[in-house]
Amino acid sequence: MRLVVFGAGYVGLVTGTGLSDLGHEVLLYDIDPDRIAKLNDGRVPIYEPGLGDLIHRNQRGGRLHFATEIPASFADADAYFIAVGTPPGPDGAADLSAVMAVADTIAKVATRKAVVVVKSTVPVGTCDAVQARLAGAKVSLEVVSNPEFLKEGDAVSDFFKPDRVVVGARSDEARQMLRELYAPLQLSGERLVMTDPRSSELIKYASNTMLAIRISFMNELSRLCHATGADIHAVRLGVGTDSRIGKKFLYAGPGYGGSCFPKDVQALAALGRENGVQLKVAEAAHQANEDQAVFLAQLVDKALEGVMGKQITLWGLAFKPETDDVRESPAVKLASALIERGATVIGHDPEAGPNFTKVFGSKVAVKERDYDALDGSHALILLTEWRSYRAPNFAEIKRRLKASADGMPPVLVDARNIWRPSEVQRAGLRYQGIGVSL
Ligand code: NAD
Ligand code: UGA
Repeated sequence: MRLVVFGAGYVGLVTGTGLSDLGHEVLLYDIDPDRIAKLNDGRVPIYEPGLGDLIHRNQRGGRLHFATEIPASFADADAYFIAVGTPPGPDGAADLSAVMAVADTIAKVATRKAVVVVKSTVPVGTCDAVQARLAGAKVSLEVVSNPEFLKEGDAVSDFFKPDRVVVGARSDEARQMLRELYAPLQLSGERLVMTDPRSSELIKYASNTMLAIRISFMNELSRLCHATGADIHAVRLGVGTDSRIGKKFLYAGPGYGGSCFPKDVQALAALGRENGVQLKVAEAAHQANEDQAVFLAQLVDKALEGVMGKQITLWGLAFKPETDDVRESPAVKLASALIERGATVIGHDPEAGPNFTKVFGSKVAVKERDYDALDGSHALILLTEWRSYRAPNFAEIKRRLKASADGMPPVLVDARNIWRPSEVQRAGLRYQGIGVSL
């Protein structure tokens, strides 16, 4: 098939490249000329494991193209994918202006009957609104919902081995078209969920919010562990071994971040309000996430008996490992809170340093090497569980960090609970985890 994908961001780039690798001819269109120039130059604008090789292979194979305009040769595409951003507006509701701008472009360029596939995360009813927007097109276009479930850092494998693909379509013809498109993925049984567009749109928000609720509940329990002396590791294991609950997404930490959970939980709550249904659990998950960020800042403050005038190192600036994405990253929130309280912040991340610097400029010094970020700091805060942070040399950390004026050893705040407290303490450091009793 011949496909056009609008938006060469995390979703569009992975989807377009993945589809070209399945043998389709794909044009990736973006309004950002720098992004397209980089891609045409063989450079990948985001860090996503495995994506670079896949792009280069399909570019070389002549199946993958990047452009800021739709060439006449793609005006007869079989399908147009919308994969542009849907950021939160002032009340948390999704801003659909980019989605609608793409709909207008498709209406102008399409010269034959085709399917318009909405991959962006959009509120219930958006596909119908896009369908109405396409009314002026010269040809018949059917809008289909096909939300994306990839996780950053695992996006390439999520594309080729998805838990499921959800398709919301009105006609059998459009359903059949999407079935054929994904046929190479060999999705059996329930892994291809066929439904109507409105249910499909809601499935996306419900999935992200369900996961966010689990994390927020565990984060609240971690705070209860601090207050009662219980241990969040034991609680997670004891709860997660119930097969009805399952072990995944039960890790307490600095609060969930990224471009989707925070935005989508609030967008679902806003959709509820617009429709007269208060989604109290979703609203509480969001509030609990905000509270966790405040709790973490207080924990650091307490461990250091005040942060004013102190230097603090953050390891892990991306919102999760294996990405360079700092959108809604816990490190951004914590660095802001610490700077506001008068601390100096130094950072390190294997990939996200340049993006973090775009946010903080010279306010935070970001070091190339993890240990170099420690020199002269009173504390090290671990915020992202990158592999390279899992087994550090604690004696070297001790040598680089600075004891407090009253001789108290430096403190390690392990916001992902990846280190063994006894090992940290053996090196002569203080240990502070999240919901972990010593
Ligand atoms: P992104 O910000 O990384 O990329 C969006 C791209 O769209 C940008 O390159 C931008 O220049 C381009 N764009 C904006 N307006 C355009 C237009 N009119 N025509 C063509 N291109 C245009 O966004 P993303 O993270 O890929 O997210 C896209 C959508 O997918 C959002 O709705 C998001 O919620 C959803 N989603 C994201 C993820 C993820 O992991 N990032 C996962 C699942 C779903
Ligand atoms: C999430 C979903 O997992 C994807 O299915 C979805 O497609 C995507 O959002 C989206 O819609 O954008 P992503 O944000 O890339 O993917 O990453 P996750 O692995 O879900 O992590 C999100 C945040 O939750 C991270 O900050 C992570 O550290 C945190 N998290 C995750 C926890 O604090 N505890 C956990 O147990 C799991």
